Amino acid sequence: MNILVTGGAGYIGSHTIIELFEQGYTRIFSIDNYLNSKESNYEKIEKITGKTPEYNNIDLTDLESTRAFFKVNKIDAIIHFAALKSVPESVENSEVYYRNNTLTLLNLLSCMKEFDVKHIIFSSSCSVYGNPDQLPVNESTPFGVAESPYASTKQMGETILKDFCKTNVNFTAISLRYFNPVGAHSSGLIGENFSRRPNNLIPIITQTAAKIREKITVFGTDYNTDDGSCIRDYIHVIDIAKAHVKALDYQKQLNTTNNYDVFNLGTGRGTSVLEIIHSFEEISGKKLNYTLGDRRAGDVETIYSDNAKASSTLKWNASLSLEEMLKSAWKWQQSMEA
Ligand code: NAD
Ligand code: WQD
Repeated sequence: MNILVTGGAGYIGSHTIIELFEQGYTRIFSIDNYLNSKESNYEKIEKITGKTPEYNNIDLTDLESTRAFFKVNKIDAIIHFAALKSVPESVENSEVYYRNNTLTLLNLLSCMKEFDVKHIIFSSSCSVYGNPDQLPVNESTPFGVAESPYASTKQMGETILKDFCKTNVNFTAISLRYFNPVGAHSSGLIGENFSRRPNNLIPIITQTAAKIREKITVFGTDYNTDDGSCIRDYIHVIDIAKAHVKALDYQKQLNTTNNYDVFNLGTGRGTSVLEIIHSFEEISGKKLNYTLGDRRAGDVETIYSDNAKASSTLKWNASLSLEEMLKSAWKWQQSMEA
């Protein structure tokens, strides 16, 4: 099978390419325009696997360059990671996010029809659930009010795919809703790109431990949780990568009457911000300079995944522990400074 990974130089894309190579896929193509990654990530993939994907610098919002790629490459399935993903940036420049995250998908769908590419897997997010009334959330939990334009683009992406599949019954699509992907490859060679100032908890913790930041603020300690801080379902990026390989297998079981499906990808376990901070201190042996602060606007109090569907249908379960997530994130931070 020839697989196109869009956003293949990015955080989750690069880990997924490694997993695909390790699971025996040999012809992997990547498209990226390096908006939030570096071309040199492919060399790291090669160091780890001994293989390099065939990579192309294309902006997927440009239909003609995207078509030019499909004209010369016969693709069987697409794993579509390429998107912009910063929540606060999406609030500031919503039009950029709507344009990038929807046009990339729409252009791919046009090419799928024109060049007969039958399968697509879409990176969605637990942010589609908004602030859920019931926990844990499962795939039948309805979309909530989107807390940001970024979250809206994920709701839109899923809606676009669902509608596309209704009328194009010979195509199949799967949306994977990631909870909070963290951690890095155990080699310390690839991980999340921090060249823009990160807003997410784990990079802020590792940057604080590395003294790149002075301190970390816990956003809210008056939530209705055991220690008052927010609860999330952190999941190792390698577990997320493995789920894509399972989804590629499952795609073959979809058919003209059932050609669209959705899965949560989490561990099913909630961990609070303060628990993460204390676990990190224990694992790294570093004391973190943290303060207890006000709530951050738009934050959900608690969210974690019901994984039963991914477990029974995809035959996938998250296997890596919180310790492995934090250890690998710390190793990645240290290797960036070396
Ligand atoms: P990332 O920024 O590391 O990777 C995305 C890649 O897409 C980057 O390499 C970027 O250069 C590329 N890209 C963006 N726009 C492009 C365009 N127009 N044309 C070509 N390439 C383009 O992000 P990631 O963390 O690997 O996320 C991958 C996907 O997973 C995204 O769709 C993201 O929204 C989704 N997701 C991520 C998280 C998370 O916390 N990391 C959680 C849920 C969902
Ligand atoms: C986690 C927890 C913060 C920073 C976002 C997106 C979501 C998905 C994952 C893409 C929260 C707290 C954070 C800090 C803190 N991405 N925190 N101090 O907000 O759960 O999810 O990333 O799809 O869509 O919304 O992740 O890492 O920003 O925050 O206390 O300096 O850490 O309040 O409770 P979040 P996060």
